[in-house]
Amino acid sequence: MNDESQARVVAVVASPRRDGNTTALVGAALERLTALGCRCETIDVCGLRIAPCAAHDDCAERSECAYADDAAEAIEAVYAADGLLLASPVYYENVSAQMKLFMDRCYFPYTHGRWLAAKVVGLIAVAAETGLDDTLAALRRYVALSSDRDVPTRSVSGLADERGAAAADPELRAAARHLADEMARYLVPVV
Ligand SMILES: Cc1cc2nc3c(=O)[nH]c(=O)nc-3n(C[C@H](O)[C@H](O)[C@H](O)COP(=O)(O)O)c2cc1C
Repeated sequence: MNDESQARVVAVVASPRRDGNTTALVGAALERLTALGCRCETIDVCGLRIAPCAAHDDCAERSECAYADDAAEAIEAVYAADGLLLASPVYYENVSAQMKLFMDRCYFPYTHGRWLAAKVVGLIAVAAETGLDDTLAALRRYVALSSDRDVPTRSVSGLADERGAAAADPELRAAARHLADEMARYLVPVV
């Protein structure tokens, strides 16, 4: 199989703990997707320069976003991906600020009628105790508002707090691999 024929999966990871729990589950899912024949790449939004959306009244009339930061390149990769993985730790029972920054900057493609190309979107959320459902719901609403059709979503969420807890939890890692299997049904041709 050559590179171009492989489905391209982009993971947007929004945890500032680079070796934390969210990253561990993303790693397990991407390892599996790679083994199943997908081309995977990770966008660490916490390492990007992304300014908050300033709600320019003429956003829809502009040919490019007013901000020349890292958002445009990330948005380009995300909107072109065959499969998308959105992963966030739970912060105050919602997505992290870095994920929200990224989402809000997607208002530019929204006002220009540009929609996600993804055939499937995987969602990952990790909390110490509370807020998993609300966080997954926020990610699902982003997908719905960024699509011009019903894009299937699949999710994995779990409880882990200390750094390394998810990596050491075989059930959570298995759930992340299962998420990858479910996504692959939409991305990898059956032989
Ligand atoms: C700013 C902040 C807010 C948090 N809010 C919540 C919360 O509302 N509910 C919860 O169960 N855990 C909360 N946590 C704990 C994290 O969700 C938890 O530690 C998670 O494992 C972090 O994932 P990470 O290792 O990928 O960073 C919060 C942590 C931080 C730093």
